Amino acid sequence: MPRFIREMMEFVGLGEEDVTAIRRSAPLVLEHADRLTALLYDHFLSFPRSAKFFLRPDGEVDTARLERRKHSLARWLRESAEVAMGQEFSYYLLAMGLSHSHRAHGPGGVIPPHLMIGAMSLAQTALGGVFADGLEPREAAAASCAWNKLLLVHLSVLLLGYFPPVRLP
Ligand code: HEM
Repeated sequence: MPRFIREMMEFVGLGEEDVTAIRRSAPLVLEHADRLTALLYDHFLSFPRSAKFFLRPDGEVDTARLERRKHSLARWLRESAEVAMGQEFSYYLLAMGLSHSHRAHGPGGVIPPHLMIGAMSLAQTALGGVFADGLEPREAAAASCAWNKLLLVHLSVLLLGYFPPVRLP
């Protein structure tokens, strides 16, 4: 798994400069982590096709479970900000992906992969806004560019449960 991530980082061109830009942006991301997380979940809840994964059997939103999940998502943001890429983090990402691709959630069943892709787009847009508001333009561009690469490396791991890697001859 760490090798898969390393190879994806190379493929998207996530280098030392990006890692430094991400780490420099970390305090700003952490400052906004709770708000970013709430934004994502509010977005999920505003569309029936994504809200249905957060409903109780009686059809109401399971707010207690949602609160717990906000902490999990905030943890992911925090560890991403540190560019954690060791063994432990890579298996954490894989397990996170499997829990979306293989575990039924509420009346919706498993989370469809296109919603995972859409969620990453939402995260990229939200982070881009935070950087544009909080950093000077060059630094904001560097941070957005680096985070875009990192989040899509994460997405490639999260999608492994849906599409196992194709072995080429
Ligand atoms: C950027 C993409 C996403 C990330 C990083 C993410 C992250 C997480 C994390 C860290 C957890 C908790 C740990 C776990 O159970 O493995 C979780 C659980 C969950 N996620 Fe996601 N998620 C993403 C996208 C989505 C989407 C698109 C949906 C549905 C619309 C979704 C629905 C859920 C549900 C229903 C749970 C389980 C809640 C529970 O049983 O308590 N997630 N997610």
